[in-house]
This record gives sequence, structure tokens and C-alpha cells, in this order.
Amino acid sequence: MKDKVCIVTGANVGIGRVTALELAKTGASVVMVCRNRDKGESAASEIRRASGNQSVQLLVGDLSSQDEIRDIAGEFREKFGALHVLVNNAGGLIPTRQVTPDGVEKTFATNHLGYFLFTNLLLDLLKKSAPARIVNVSSDMHRVARLDFGNLQGERNYSQFQAYALSKLANLLFTYELARRLDGTRVTVNALHPGAIKSNFYNNSGSLLSFSSTLFGWALRSPEKGAETVVYLATSPDVSSITGRYFKDKKMIASSKTSMDVAAQARLWELSERMVGLKN
Ligand SMILES: NC(=O)c1ccc[n+]([C@@H]2O[C@H](COP(=O)([O-])OP(=O)(O)OC[C@H]3O[C@@H](n4cnc5c(N)ncnc54)[C@H](OP(=O)(O)O)[C@@H]3O)[C@@H](O)[C@H]2O)c1
Repeated sequence: MKDKVCIVTGANVGIGRVTALELAKTGASVVMVCRNRDKGESAASEIRRASGNQSVQLLVGDLSSQDEIRDIAGEFREKFGALHVLVNNAGGLIPTRQVTPDGVEKTFATNHLGYFLFTNLLLDLLKKSAPARIVNVSSDMHRVARLDFGNLQGERNYSQFQAYALSKLANLLFTYELARRLDGTRVTVNALHPGAIKSNFYNNSGSLLSFSSTLFGWALRSPEKGAETVVYLATSPDVSSITGRYFKDKKMIASSKTSMDVAAQARLWELSERMVGLKN
């Protein structure tokens, strides 16, 4: 991985942080995208120290904001002429319904449109750098999502769990549609479930879940375990030509029937393009 350039979003804690560390250990250049400069700087310097790799850099921005996503992608393009691995990981379970300055429900904005817009803004660079890989951190929670294009942002009724599940289903619909669009480019895109991981995820998700995760913390896996499949998809020769698949524990598994709906994949893509202004 010595001449490779990798991006990991949400890289200051949890699964993203371990992924950035493991990629840095391979000798790759690693760019961490974090929304808080202090937390990002502190994680980046710790990763440089632990990996012995000085080529670990930070880009700062909030991935729920389309302007900030454009700024981060622009800054990356100014600094780097290539991109070989993009790990879309930043996201979470947001306790209450919030709307971003772009007018989008925040879970959908961060967990889905964040992946969608950031990837699309870097797609030409990935193609130019091929072979290249995109890894989307999804979740098995996608299985309980109710796909209703009239309530994608909880406009009619909102539950934090449905909003989260739907955003993780959107990660899969996006992955499968993108894989089709990337056919013949030598850029692969796969998604994964990391397992139930003891990270900040539950602490940030509201009191009930945060409390339950304290009680049942013993049943959760470590972020190191959570990052294993991410790093596998990002680096292993075993999966260099695999694309448009869903993984858990480094094994290909089936995702929900809804996620395989080709018409829904295309519909979400077109809607997302309009929502982020890539198409009128
Ligand atoms: N933990 C689990 O059990 C579990 C299970 C299935 C899937 N996942 C998925 O795994 C991924 C990583 O989660 P994790 O468990 O590592 O959680 P985590 O410890 O809470 O880490 C989430 C990361 O995303 C960042 N982030 C959140 N919103 C952001 C935004 N608007 N802009 C930029 N960065 C943002 C966070 O930044 P801050 O530190 O500044 O908040 C943090 O760096 C997520 O996509 C999640 O859906 C987790």
C-alpha cells in the first residue's frame, strides 16, 4: 500500500480511527476526515506515533453539510493527485429529528448524502487512480428499514431508529447502483456490517441506548474487531475484483430483499443527485 492514498471519514474515534491506524501501518498515505479539528489533530498525531507513518493528514469538515463536503473534496483535490481507497464511515444514530442548513433531515444528510456526494465528487480521481476501492460502512440495521420514498426524511412520522435503519439501507442501495455504474472502470465498491461495536456510537445516540450499552457493553465488540472487515475490503487481494457486495466478518453475505431492488436503487440515486445539486 506504500504508494496508495486512502481517505477515511469519521476517523477520530471508533471504527474509523482503527481503520485509519491499520491503513497507516501498511505504509499508505492516509487522509482523515473529521468534523472537530482538535479531536482530529489529536487522533492523527496518535496514529502517526503508533504506526510510524508520518503521512497521515487531516481534513476538517461536517459531512452533514453539502458546502463543507464540497470544501473537503476540493481541498483534497488540491493536495493529492490520486485516490486509491475511499472509506465512507462517518455517521451515527441521531437522537432527535434535526434539519441541516441544506433543508435535509440530519441522519439522511450525514449517513446517506454524506457518502453519496463525497464519493461522487471524488469519482473521477478514483477512476484515474484505478485500481481503486470504495468501502461503505453500512449496518445490519438496514434489514428493519421501511423504504417509503414519501417519508425518506421522516417528514410524515419520525423515529430515530427508522431514520438510522433507512440511512443504512440507503448505503446499500447506493453501493449496488454505484457498482453497476462503475462497471469496467477497475474501481470497486462494497459495503459491510461491522457488528455491534463499543464505540461512541451508542453514547451519542440518546439516553436509552446509551444506558443500555453501559449495561450490555460486555456483549459489544471492540472497534478493532469492527474495523477488520473495513480494512479487509480496503486492502486484501482476495477482494480486489469483487464489487457490489455486502460483507460481515470478511464474508460475503446477502443483504435484505429491499436493498436488492434495482428500481429503488436507481430512484434513490436520481433523487440524491437532485438533493445535492449534481443534477437539476
Ligand atoms: N457501533 C456500532 O455498533 C455500529 C454498528 C453498525 C454500523 N455502524 C456504523 O459504523 C460507522 C462508524 O461508527 P462507530 O461505531 O465508529 O461510531 P463513533 O465512534 O460514534 O464514530 C463515528 C464517527 O463519525 C463522525 N461523524 C459523525 N457525524 C459526522 C458528521 N456530520 N461529519 C463528520 N463526521 C461525523 C464522528 O465524529 P465525532 O467524533 O466528532 O462525533 C466519529 O468520528 C457508522 O457509519 C455507523 O453507522 C456502527
